Formats: sequence, C-alpha cells, structure tokens
Amino acid sequence: MIKINFIDHTGTTHEVDASEGESLMSAAINNLVPGIDGDCGGNCACGTCHIIVDENWGSRLAARNSEETSLLQMTPDLEGGSRLACQVVLTKELNGLVVNVPEHQM
Ligand code: FES
Repeated sequence: MIKINFIDHTGTTHEVDASEGESLMSAAINNLVPGIDGDCGGNCACGTCHIIVDENWGSRLAARNSEETSLLQMTPDLEGGSRLACQVVLTKELNGLVVNVPEHQM
C-alpha cells in the first residue's frame, strides 16, 4: 500500500491508502477525498482533478506531458506544483506523498 496525504483547502488532511499503478485521481475518488471531481474519468480532458504537489515531493514525480501542460493552462489557481491527478501514476517511491487540493476545480 502507498499512503497519500491530500490536504484540502481548509487545511484538513485526508490520508488514504492507494495501490501501485493506480492514478492519484483514482485514489482520491475511491476514498471520497473532497475537492477532486475527475469528470472525464482520467482521460486528461476535463481538468477537474487539479492538485498542487507539496514542494518536497515535486521532483519525485514523472514530468508532465504536453497534453497535461496545456490543460493546466486553463486551470484556476495554477501554481508551480500544479498537476492533473489523473496523470500521476503511483509508485512505491511516492509512499507518503503530500498534495494540496485547491478550493475550486474548473
Ligand atoms: S480526470 Fe479529467 S483531466 Fe483528470
């Protein structure tokens, strides 16, 4: 199991257990983490799974691809650590990952 800490906009941490190979979006949806919609089901088409990776973890994630980068340009609250959670595939190295969930999605 991989532990993920989602911090919502109120500062509340939601710790969830996820599986290797699962997406970060799927881990959030399956554990009812508030603030992540995932309207397109993980197809990098809606932008409603925006999260901001904690600065201590950003370098450990695989880089964004061009599709993710262009969709993120339309995201409110865009920050340096912004990612689309459906495009982040969980690995054992991400055990303990901390991400922030913005107040609003697209
Ligand atoms: S779930 Fe739609 S872009 Fe991530």
